[in-house]
Amino acid sequence: MHPDLATTLKSLGLGLLLVTTLNAQDAACARCHADIVRTYSTTAMARTSGKVTPGNHAPAKPFLDPTTQTTFSITQAPQSLLLQFEKGPDITGTRPLEWFLGSGRVGRSYLFRMGGRLFQSPISYYSTASQWQLSPGFDRRTSLDLTRAVEPSCLNCHASNYNPATLTMNPGISCERCHGDARQHLSTLGKASIINPKKLPPQERDSICAQCHLTGVARVAKFRTDNATYMPGKKLSDFSALFVWDQPESNTIGVTSHFEKLATSRCKIITGDALTCTTCHDPHSEPQPQKAASFFNQKCQNCHAQKPCLQSPQGDCIACHMPKSTGGSVDHSSYTNHSIPRTTNITPQINPTSLVSFWPNTTSERDLGLAWSIVGKTDQAQPLLEAAAKANPNDTASLSQLAQLHDRQGREDLAQPFYEAILKKDPNNATAATNLAVIRIKAGLTDEAIALWRSALKVNPAQTGTRMNLAQALFRQGNKAAAAAEIEQALKYDPDQPSARRLLNQLRP
Ligand code: HEC
Ligand code: HEC
Ligand code: HEC
Ligand code: HEC
Ligand code: HEC
Ligand code: HEC
Ligand code: HEC
Repeated sequence: MHPDLATTLKSLGLGLLLVTTLNAQDAACARCHADIVRTYSTTAMARTSGKVTPGNHAPAKPFLDPTTQTTFSITQAPQSLLLQFEKGPDITGTRPLEWFLGSGRVGRSYLFRMGGRLFQSPISYYSTASQWQLSPGFDRRTSLDLTRAVEPSCLNCHASNYNPATLTMNPGISCERCHGDARQHLSTLGKASIINPKKLPPQERDSICAQCHLTGVARVAKFRTDNATYMPGKKLSDFSALFVWDQPESNTIGVTSHFEKLATSRCKIITGDALTCTTCHDPHSEPQPQKAASFFNQKCQNCHAQKPCLQSPQGDCIACHMPKSTGGSVDHSSYTNHSIPRTTNITPQINPTSLVSFWPNTTSERDLGLAWSIVGKTDQAQPLLEAAAKANPNDTASLSQLAQLHDRQGREDLAQPFYEAILKKDPNNATAATNLAVIRIKAGLTDEAIALWRSALKVNPAQTGTRMNLAQALFRQGNKAAAAAEIEQALKYDPDQPSARRLLNQLRP
């Protein structure tokens, strides 16, 4: 660490534990905004990710996961934590855990690096149960899965300055994620202005929190010709199209549902733009748990002193009107109902019929087509996507959905030109490469198929199916040694593959 940073932190009374989570960038603000930096650095957002260092994480004694029949354990390594797995004599090994995601309020997921990619650990730490268990989503697998590549979206919500090319990032949510580029403000010692969300128009203001707290039913990247990404001060709806069901009750409570829910509350509907996340939440600090109820109840009273509760005008408002419910997206966790219901015994109407834009008039037919395909309604998606692809032959997202749709319908002849068009525009599109390779091999164009599979594996080396296809093609060309090498490579990433192991034994007697 830079010595100046260490001195600054010491002078602020920040202990060693916080040093590991404070961005160098945020520490630069401490010179003039010391109180904000101090309180912010203790929040869940500031601590939502970081490099794994030994000592700060709970180890796990060996335990058997009955679903995958794998014995896992977590031990301390000099620089990190070590995930160990064992499923019989052949399938055993370790992965050094490099990054954690999650402040630990609910739990923590862990990431490891292999072949220039980050992968999610199959086990996570769950705070409520105080134990390691299968990571969310992994419980649906019957085999050990070590090949789940981490989506850039995870890191865009849980870290700062993520660069997928170098796999570098800064831990936690930095000041700049809400205040935008601070370079001018810093170099002029605070004279040049910097974004204050409070001073932005309502939709630009709300976009800042929405970039991470609003997923809706479907979130679709807008079609653009440049590679611009959302920055504070802009409208999120210029970058992402956000869809929710037309019947609000159907939008279940989950990790990132706070926006949808709040939008349906009477408080928000009647108050309008004046009510926002920061009406109740201080973005720079969290109330201590024992003071949380009185902290939030005071916010209700700020508005409801005039129109008091019929039932309990001095009671614990949030206990009755913002109950906690079990979330769907991250197991073992609970989320506060931001629809602020009058009573909790509402019968939910689970009968959604159409998707609507969360921010009215901000989405196109093309966006809607992609949203329908995300929720699996191909009949609704297809005509919209066909029109979109015709209007914009460079829109790889529409082309890609359309191609996969045709592929699933058994119309490879229709899918093929789309895959070719996508790869011309985006040679790193692994899905297009993998699927086009299958079409090529069926047409007897083995060399072309092999080249496509190789290029897809460069993007993500842990695609077992793709590598097995490649191995088979090499084998059929008579190249036994190369085929065996590919299978060995597949097993390195994905050791729980009995058929790959059998094939390897046949190739290498
Ligand atoms: C050298 C001192 C200095 C540093 C370093 C500094 N600021 Fe400031 N900042 C100021 C001053 C001075 C103001 C104006 C204060 C006022 O008007 O109350 C200000 C105002 C702000 C405002 C409010 C702007 C507005 O229009 O209301 C924000 C937000 C802010 N700073 C964020 C940051 C962030 C984030 C960092 C670190 C990346 C940072 N500042 C670093 C001095 C500094
Ligand atoms: C759209 C933004 C977004 C994406 C994408 C996202 N998360 Fe989150 N995640 C959140 C938010 C917001 C919370 C906190 C929700 C809350 O406290 O209600 C959260 C909570 C968590 C937690 C619990 C943290 C704790 O202890 O409070 C973990 C672990 C986690 N996410 C891991 C992941 C992983 C792994 C991925 C990728 C597979 C991911 N998240 C993708 C926004 C996101
Ligand atoms: C999660 C988003 C978020 C993060 C992260 C964040 N801020 Fe802010 N900040 C806000 C919002 C929202 C406001 C306006 C608050 C309001 O409405 O009163 C604000 C206001 C400010 C102001 C204006 C004075 C004030 O208290 O209102 C300063 C200065 C500031 N932030 C500095 C920082 C610094 C320094 C950091 C990093 C340590 C930081 N902020 C991190 C959202 C954030
Ligand atoms: C860059 C992404 C990002 C932005 C921007 C962001 N958040 Fe968060 N927020 C998160 C993540 C991730 C978590 C989960 C932290 C954890 O527990 O690991 C979180 C957690 C929270 C929590 C729960 C804290 C707790 O006590 O558990 C609140 C409240 C919150 N955010 C409010 C806001 C508000 C208000 C804004 C806008 C001013 C905002 N956030 C902007 C990503 C973000
Ligand atoms: C920014 C002001 C504001 C804040 C803050 C606020 N409310 Fe409201 N709330 C309103 C308004 C306005 C209405 C609509 C009153 C009406 O129908 O005339 C309302 C309505 C309600 C209703 C009636 C809902 C229904 O469906 O009939 C409840 C319950 C309620 N609020 C509870 C709360 C609680 C609990 C909090 C704190 C967690 C809170 N409010 C915070 C402004 C606010
Ligand atoms: C009317 C007050 C109010 C408003 C407005 C509000 N929240 Fe909350 N929020 C709460 C309360 C109360 C809790 C529960 C706090 C606790 O139990 O300590 C909470 C908890 C949270 C949490 C922690 C996870 C959970 O669900 O318990 C997140 C994340 C969060 N809010 C995000 C947001 C975002 C994003 C917005 C804006 C879309 C927002 N909140 C607007 C009152 C509010
Ligand atoms: C013991 C549970 C409980 C507590 C505590 C409670 N409420 Fe209520 N509140 C209710 C119920 C139930 C109703 C609906 C009463 C009805 O419809 O006759 C209600 C109704 C309301 C209404 C609608 C009033 C109207 O005229 O339509 C508001 C606003 C409200 N509560 C706000 C609050 C606020 C603010 C607090 C905290 C000071 C609070 N409540 C505390 C249970 C509670």
